[in-house]
Formats: sequence, structure tokens, C-alpha cells
Amino acid sequence: MSPLKLIDGKVAAAEVLQQVREDVRTLKADGIEPALAVILVGDDPASHVYVRNKILRAEEAGIRSLEYRLPATTRETELLALIGTLNDDPHVHGLLLQLPLPPHIEETRALQAIAPSKDVDGFHSENVGGLSQGRDVLTPCTPSGCLYLLEQTLGDLSGKHAVVIGRSNIVGKPMAALLLKAHCSVTVVHSRSADAKALCQLADIVIAAVGRPRLIDGSWLKEGAVVIDVGINRIDDNGRSRLVGDVDFDSALPKVAAITPVPGGVGPMTIAFLMKNTVAAARQQALSSQSEAVCLSTY
Ligand code: GUN
Repeated sequence: MSPLKLIDGKVAAAEVLQQVREDVRTLKADGIEPALAVILVGDDPASHVYVRNKILRAEEAGIRSLEYRLPATTRETELLALIGTLNDDPHVHGLLLQLPLPPHIEETRALQAIAPSKDVDGFHSENVGGLSQGRDVLTPCTPSGCLYLLEQTLGDLSGKHAVVIGRSNIVGKPMAALLLKAHCSVTVVHSRSADAKALCQLADIVIAAVGRPRLIDGSWLKEGAVVIDVGINRIDDNGRSRLVGDVDFDSALPKVAAITPVPGGVGPMTIAFLMKNTVAAARQQALSSQSEAVCLSTY
């Protein structure tokens, strides 16, 4: 295997986190201690692992973390009340509600309750709309991480044809918006696409985010394409459990110019960008409260 073809998400995430640590030091020197609150409702085992990792990374970066683990029986009104309290707390800069939520809580209502300025996941409609308008807003972490890896690999993305496979709110749709903002031509392929494979074969850049193990094999790819594999699928491989992506890595490798492995590709980037968003939110809130103070003093 050519190591030159491998896009190493662990190295890239370490670079981003190094910058975050420096930004945290600067903020602290200005008297601002960035803080991230994470809310987890219910017992989803994967979510518990994700949240633990987010809290650990925050602490390593010097970001104060607040963790709220609520039982699966929590009423929607109780959750909304907690979100309201954290929205109003000037010492909390980022607020993340881990998904999925128990079925009796309406996801959209809960996400819309988070103050857009603290929405470090970038899921509030104000941030979603801002991104689609090309404004500088808090942006979903996984797509931001993918864009970083692409720009590190290819430099300027202008004019490239990117095919995004999958249209989820968390990855596919914001990914398409970010690629458009980076001046790519973007095609979004999904379960109802007439010929997903033929569209994918035209791509300079492929982002696979469908959650179907090894769906995209080498025959889907143009020679020299750059492939970002967002999928993390656990499969049984002759009695051994292992993680694979949405891309069939072995058949893709001879065709591509570069590809992310699973694990060790996109995964570490998501948390790194969550920390980056938390620092950006803290900085922005500090600037807003300063300008509010100036307005009041000149009133
Ligand atoms: N569940 C799976 N991915 C995510 C994510 O990026 N953010 C949140 N809040 N929940 C998730």
C-alpha cells in the first residue's frame, strides 16, 4: 500500500487541536474560559462513547466541559428547560445535544431551542441557512473536517466536480453547501438517484456518507479521484467484528489519488472541529458582549 495515498485524519486532527490549544490560551489571557456543555439523553451505548471522547478532548484542549447525562424518561419540557438555562449562562459558550434522542422527544424542537450563537454542531436552522447563503456561521463538524482534509490534499478546490453520496442533515447536505462555498461543482447522489454509480464515476472528489458498508467499490471511481469516506460501519468478518467504511478500501486504492482510511480518517476530525467551533463561539460571544457594552455606554 502506498502511504502517500493515505489521508491521515489523526495527524490532521492533531494540527487542528494544536491551533485550538493556542486559541484557548489567548482567550484565557483575555479573561475568557471557553466552556462546552454536552447533553446526552438516554442509554444509547455508542452515544455514551462519543460523549466521553468529546469531554476528554475538550479537557485536553483546555476547554471547560459540563456534562449532563439525563435518563431516557426525561420529558421534552425538562430538556428544553435545561437548554434554556444553558443558553442564558454567559459562562457556557458551546452547547451540544447528542443525537439520537429518545423517540418521545422531537429532535427538531430540541435543536431549535439551542441559541444559534452556542450551536457548536451547526444544526440550528439559522446556521444551516447561513451556511447555504455562504455566510461565516457555526458549521457541522464532520463536513468541516472533510473539507479541511480535502484542502490539505488538493489545495484550492475551485472547479472540481465533487460527488456527495448521502443527503443527511448532519453530513450530506452541509457537505454539499461547504463544497459549493469552496467553488466546486457539486452533485448529491442518494437512494433515489437513477444511476448513482455513473454519476460517481464523473467525480474528481467523492464524499461517501451513506452508512452502507463498502457500497462504493473501485468500479465507481474515476482514475485519480480523491475519496473521503465518512462511513463507520461495524461488520462481522468471518466471526471477527471490525470497522469498515462506505468505500471498499482495497478495490478503491489502486484507482484513487488519495483516500481516507477507516478508522483513522474522518473520525478524529469531527471532535477536532467541535473544539474549533467551541473556541470560535467563545470568541464571537466575547466580541458581541464587548460591543453591547460599548453601545450601552454610548447610549
Ligand atoms: N450523533 C451522531 N453524530 C452526531 C453529531 O455530529 N452531533 C451530535 N450532536 N450528535 C451526533
